[in-house]
Amino acid sequence: MGISNIVILTGAGISAESGLQTFRAADGLWEGHRVEDVATPEAFDRNPVLVHQFYDARRERLGEVEPNAAHLALARLDAEWPGELLIVTQNVDDLHERAGAKRLLHMHGELNRGWCVSCDERFGWAGAMKPSSGAEPVEAPSFSDAAKKQEQPFDKLRTNGNICPACGETGSVRPDIVWFGEMPYEMERIEAALMEADLFVSIGTSGAVYPAAGFVQTARYRGARTLEINLEPSQGSLSFDERRYGRASELVPQWVAEMLG
Ligand code: OAD
Repeated sequence: MGISNIVILTGAGISAESGLQTFRAADGLWEGHRVEDVATPEAFDRNPVLVHQFYDARRERLGEVEPNAAHLALARLDAEWPGELLIVTQNVDDLHERAGAKRLLHMHGELNRGWCVSCDERFGWAGAMKPSSGAEPVEAPSFSDAAKKQEQPFDKLRTNGNICPACGETGSVRPDIVWFGEMPYEMERIEAALMEADLFVSIGTSGAVYPAAGFVQTARYRGARTLEINLEPSQGSLSFDERRYGRASELVPQWVAEMLG
């Protein structure tokens, strides 16, 4: 069968050689905190300053890193592939777009975007999001409880600084990032692309986090060929028709060269 429609899923492993730490590398800790303890609505509810610090540090780090050969190769494939193509990234960094990728979707959100929980607007964000120094929350709203009850989805975090560019509210901007327990973005579009895919390629992801970890099953079910490119076998490696193990910066350009002939 000829290949026309390609869906590519990327994870933290594709950005590792740019100098961004993966989630499950070595100790998987950030200053002693498990990632799961800062990447949840409950964590933000409990300690918003800590969560802002975590994402502010990651956003700042973006300014110090560059796309690597794997990002550049996927951007080349995007530019030159005549058929349908969609890059679905779990990464919140901006290295795919800085490499030039256009047919790209951030299913877990983006570090460079903010979301005002007061007016519900989303917008580009540069610099720190943490409330300005000395500002402590004077009211500790229960974000998660409110969301569960489906009332006002989030209350406001009342602090100084952190001002929404849309409504001017102070202290109501959170990272526009999908946390554990929240629904990833654009699932309908992803599912539709997987249904049409002739080839599904998973690059640099451990296969530990759903729903992304299940994309290979959806693609297979629809008859797509499946390829895993990773440093080591992922948790779902046995679901793939073909597996290639090594560094993304070597294997991805090789695979792209094969695809473009
Ligand atoms: P992980 O840290 O779980 O997995 C990264 C994978 O990349 C591992 O399997 C590594 O072996 C592999 N890897 C590391 N260096 C590599 C290299 N140079 N070349 C190729 N592969 C390499 O990251 P993700 O699978 O992306 O979610 O994590 C999935 C989600 O879990 C993230 O999007 C994030 C996290 O919690 C949210 O924040 C919602």
